Amino acid sequence: MPFEPKIINASRITIKQISGLETIPVRHAVLRKGKPVDACAIPQDNLDSTFHFGLFYEDKLVAVSSFVVDKSPYFKDTKQYRLRAMGVLEEYQRHQFGQKLLTHGVAFLKDKKIERLWFNARIIALNFYKKNGFETIGNIFNIPNVGDHYLMHKKL
Ligand SMILES: CC(C)(COP(=O)(O)OP(=O)(O)OC[C@H]1O[C@@H](n2cnc3c(N)ncnc32)[C@H](O)[C@@H]1OP(=O)(O)O)[C@@H](O)C(=O)NCCC(=O)NCCS
Repeated sequence: MPFEPKIINASRITIKQISGLETIPVRHAVLRKGKPVDACAIPQDNLDSTFHFGLFYEDKLVAVSSFVVDKSPYFKDTKQYRLRAMGVLEEYQRHQFGQKLLTHGVAFLKDKKIERLWFNARIIALNFYKKNGFETIGNIFNIPNVGDHYLMHKKL
């Protein structure tokens, strides 16, 4: 059934920490559509320092994000995290779920005194991240089989 709510009931939204494995169906549907499920894993998925979050709407997992320890040569901050594999199921997009999930992750990292969050953003998501206070640095670059990206970041 298509998801066409006139009102999103905030009390039906839950954001919680999940495992890397639990993120896979959403990653596959949104970020690796048509590719093998194996292509959905990221190398840091099972590290203790990695945090995965899921947003559930009415108990259905509709959005995922993963935060991993990774340093970008652009920044001098000692404590850097990188956002990876952020995605909202297509039929649930543009209902502020992505924004809520990202805000939750940022607050979590701030609490852990992480200094900077950075990531490679797809061009289609640029506006979303700008709306959430991130900015681009450097030139546009291409990731083979995925497309054009900008590096984006925010001091936490
Ligand atoms: C990008 C993505 C994570 C955003 O999540 P979302 O839940 O759809 O976005 P939100 O509803 O929280 O959007 C918040 C604000 O960001 C901006 N925004 C979000 N998607 C946008 C889009 N496609 N075009 C322009 N602005 C957009 C808007 O200002 C929006 O506020 P508004 O709807 O009140 O205008 C989601 O659309 C997605 O998974 N896209 C496909 C996968 C992807 O590109 N992931 C990012 C990899 S880097």
